Amino acid sequence: MSGQSINNNNFPDGGSPMKILVINGPNLNMLGIREPEIYGTGTYAELEALIRAEAARLGVEAELFQSNHEGTIVDVIQSAYRRINGIVINPAAYTHTSVAIADALKSVGIPAVEVHISDPDTREEFRRVSYIRPVCAATFKGMGFEGYLRALRFLCGRY
Ligand code: DQA
Repeated sequence: MSGQSINNNNFPDGGSPMKILVINGPNLNMLGIREPEIYGTGTYAELEALIRAEAARLGVEAELFQSNHEGTIVDVIQSAYRRINGIVINPAAYTHTSVAIADALKSVGIPAVEVHISDPDTREEFRRVSYIRPVCAATFKGMGFEGYLRALRFLCGRY
């Protein structure tokens, strides 16, 4: 856990609903095709539908975004500044390499939660490093798509 505070309120300014940005990094658009023995057979479109349904159930607005490009992910995190109340991020392979994404999350100061479909800590050695974890309030890993839903609930203060 980092020192970032979580606003346990779906209506942070008293009026408009909480806005959560869900970011998926490289190759996650290939879900369903890509290594199903590790990531399962669910597609990215199915993941999006699950996230949207959970956001609706929680009464929050979800913006979903996927990119294969590190700089684009940095741009999207910056664009969240003063607009978004929480970030759910699966940086995929950039988890293990990207100081730029970690710096962007720190720059905007928005509570963020790290998600992984698999558990990278039980896989190859190079996946055990996460540059993102120290700047996130929580990590959900190894739970398949359920990890994204848990992350949404965490940001809403509903466990
Ligand atoms: C991943 C784990 C990463 O190590 C990998 O590079 C991914 C997906 C996961 O969701 O399990 O692309 O983030």
